[in-house]
Amino acid sequence: MNFSKLTLYLSILVLSVFAMSCADDKPVFRIGVSQCSGDEWRQKLNSELRRELLFYPGTTVEIVDASDDNAKQIADIERFIEEGVDLLVVAPNEADAISPVIEKAYDMGIPVVLVDRKINSEKYTAYVGADNYDVGYRAGEYVASRLASGGKVVEIVGLITSTPAQERHKGFVEALSDHKGISVDVLETDWTYESSYEAYNGYLSNTAPADLVFAHNDRMASAARDAADDFGCAENTLFVGVDALTGKGHGVEMVNNGVLEASFIYPTGGDRVAQVAMAILQGTPYMRESLLSTELVNSANARIMLMQNAQIATLDEKITMLDEKLDSSMVKYSYQRKLLWMIGAFLAIIFLLLCVAVYGFRKMLLMNRILEDQKKQIEEQREAKLAFFTNVSHDFRTPLTLISDPVEQLKKNGSLNDKDRFLLDLIYKNVTVLRRLVNQILDFRKYENGKLDLRLSEFDMAAALKDWADSFMDLAWRKHITLTLNVDPSCVGLKVVADMEKMERIAYNLLSNAFKFTPERGTIDMNLGLSEDGSLLWSVADSGVGLSEEHVEHIFENFYQVSSVHHSGSGIGLALVKVFVEMQGGEISVRSRKDRGTNFSMKFPVRQSGDLLTPTVDKERMAVMRNGAKCDAGQQTVASDMFGLSHERNDDGKESVLIIDDNSDVREYLRSLLHGHYYVMEASNGEEGFRVAAKRVPDAIICDVMMPVMDGMECCRKLKSDVQTSHIPVMMLTAYTAENQKIEGYECGADSYISKPFSAELLLARLKNLLESRSRLQSIFGDTLSLGKEKLPETDKDFISRLRNIIHESMSDPQLSVEVIGDRMCMSRVQLYRKTKALTGYSPNEYLRIARLKKARSLLDTTDMTVSEVAYAVGFSTSSYFTKCYKEYFGENPTDRKS
Ligand code: FRU
Repeated sequence: MNFSKLTLYLSILVLSVFAMSCADDKPVFRIGVSQCSGDEWRQKLNSELRRELLFYPGTTVEIVDASDDNAKQIADIERFIEEGVDLLVVAPNEADAISPVIEKAYDMGIPVVLVDRKINSEKYTAYVGADNYDVGYRAGEYVASRLASGGKVVEIVGLITSTPAQERHKGFVEALSDHKGISVDVLETDWTYESSYEAYNGYLSNTAPADLVFAHNDRMASAARDAADDFGCAENTLFVGVDALTGKGHGVEMVNNGVLEASFIYPTGGDRVAQVAMAILQGTPYMRESLLSTELVNSANARIMLMQNAQIATLDEKITMLDEKLDSSMVKYSYQRKLLWMIGAFLAIIFLLLCVAVYGFRKMLLMNRILEDQKKQIEEQREAKLAFFTNVSHDFRTPLTLISDPVEQLKKNGSLNDKDRFLLDLIYKNVTVLRRLVNQILDFRKYENGKLDLRLSEFDMAAALKDWADSFMDLAWRKHITLTLNVDPSCVGLKVVADMEKMERIAYNLLSNAFKFTPERGTIDMNLGLSEDGSLLWSVADSGVGLSEEHVEHIFENFYQVSSVHHSGSGIGLALVKVFVEMQGGEISVRSRKDRGTNFSMKFPVRQSGDLLTPTVDKERMAVMRNGAKCDAGQQTVASDMFGLSHERNDDGKESVLIIDDNSDVREYLRSLLHGHYYVMEASNGEEGFRVAAKRVPDAIICDVMMPVMDGMECCRKLKSDVQTSHIPVMMLTAYTAENQKIEGYECGADSYISKPFSAELLLARLKNLLESRSRLQSIFGDTLSLGKEKLPETDKDFISRLRNIIHESMSDPQLSVEVIGDRMCMSRVQLYRKTKALTGYSPNEYLRIARLKKARSLLDTTDMTVSEVAYAVGFSTSSYFTKCYKEYFGENPTDRKS
């Protein structure tokens, strides 16, 4: 099930529950009551009915009074039928007249409960009322008992077309049938006071008063008495009625007051009517005929009845009060219940909304995660691409070096003909472009890794700009473009502190860009000036095709290309320009309009804050840079002679250099560079390199990093931890320029680091520096034998100190020789020789002799020992040989120290 369906179902559920809560207050059943009249007896019945229905909450009742009018009662019942009441309660006025409409209702399925009076049909559901025959019969019996000796009775009959009147009359007559001494005169009325008064009044007008008047209700009995009173004959007649209502002025009170002789209880039974009706509606068992019993009320029980009735009335009042309170409580309860349901519904809606929110939130999280994953994937792909490009760029560097440097060497050849020179220039220029692109990719990578740093130096910006612009002059001439450099007088000779290499890259990129988009006969202006606040203003403006607004917005974004159809570069040139500008605290902006040209404006602080590069480093860097940058500028004359490589080493007096590189081209090229100045050895991987180094102990090692079998780092680590090789300076040579690799290289003991593509000049300069610093160490160790502060591997320090200790401990032993020292140092004679020579500048023999002579001089100066004694003490076997050596070394006779 999806969430929207769930929400829908939940909403329906909440609304249904809420509706049910409200529906609880709607009537469950509706009962229509049609009364034939509205006298006190019926009012009592009605109120009993209403009160009883309180026990059936939700059931409503409507009571209408037909006022003894058949037509009205029929209309009332018709209306109830039409309105679709659930049940009809009817007290039919006249049986014949009302029967059809009741039958109709019954036929339509509406249950009908008859009360008090019946109809001439069996089409009713139930009857509740007294047994009127019994009422009449009991009345007859009572009359018989009172007129035991006979007498005249007047029976005032109710509406004879109503069943109570018929049944009561029947019972009465039958009860008196055996009492021949009692005569009965029948007067027909319509249940009302007036009809009874009139009837008895008329009777008295013609006839003698009766001994007893039995009227079918108390109302009519009292009317007869009033008529008799009017005739002054009331005292001689007993008046008996039916109903025996307990209220004020009703039957029981009249009996108690003596107005009536007796009355028969005619129970209203409104509660019973309600119970039967509800049983029918609720489908529970009920009696079709509920006959209520009657009882005689006379002077003997009337008073008690009145008292009880008073009590009942009090209780009734209390019940009414309670009822009202209950009603108001019910209203409150109903209100509170509604409120509760509303709160419930509200909470349910809140819960639903919460669910929706949580669901939405989770979905959002999911989407975010998916997006994150996609982003990560894109990042990874981008990273992989960049890594690929970086690796490819690195791979390009070596072959590019192997092309550009030999070409550079060839260009120095003065005997080239014009065509060859042209071709060489062409090769060189394009190699330079390639190298620049490769560098750009690598710079971009460095920037992405946060490894791009500023290398500040002080230089003449205007002169540099001229230099850089000059390199485009040839292109300008060929494309017939006017390239102008405008330098404000305030900037002539102005020294700026900035990263010269990055400035040059900026110039190159902007000029290349301008040349790319400027058609023939266009103009390109490079301007340099100062702003009012003293900042450097530098702009490059062209009259080229310009850019649309849409492109201008993205022009500095990585990999953005103005046209995807016409490839217009790698898309990182301008991005790098922006990076270079901002790294130097500058700002760059572009103004461009389609077909109206483009203007890049930059603003820099004149002097960047930060450490300046040392002149040497700067010189080296600039040399490298010039090799890369000046495709059209005049070449530097790079001749290895200029380094004055004058170290005398090896058999033919040259120092030896071991090249460890798996690329035979690189080895070959390096050999060609070093050849003539150094004795060159080669190895094609780290393992072989270490083996050769340990065996032949070269003066320096140039070692590649990425190699099979054993890489350069591992090789360097091994070289530096082995006593036989630890002193040899190692220059790491790799295509990787990443700082962390350099750090790793230095950590494994490399003395120098040079990245491809390298220039011959830089490599030779570095090598020379390394060997010179080794000579400086030699002089330190050779002369003073001081250890400690020197930047030397621990292995070498340890070697020197062990050598020194062996010599000092056994100096007096004339047998102490190089062989003995070698044995004790666990080194071969050659290894000891190379190591000692490399570190101290002396052969082991020389080193031993000098140590002896120095000790001798100290003994001569500080003791009374004779020259002979001193000579023997420091291990010379003859005094004359000691004197000879001493004189050679110190330029004086040992005896001179004694005088
Ligand atoms: C009330 C009444 C009673 C009588 C009954 C007979 O309307 O007249 O007095 O007992 O009806 O239906």
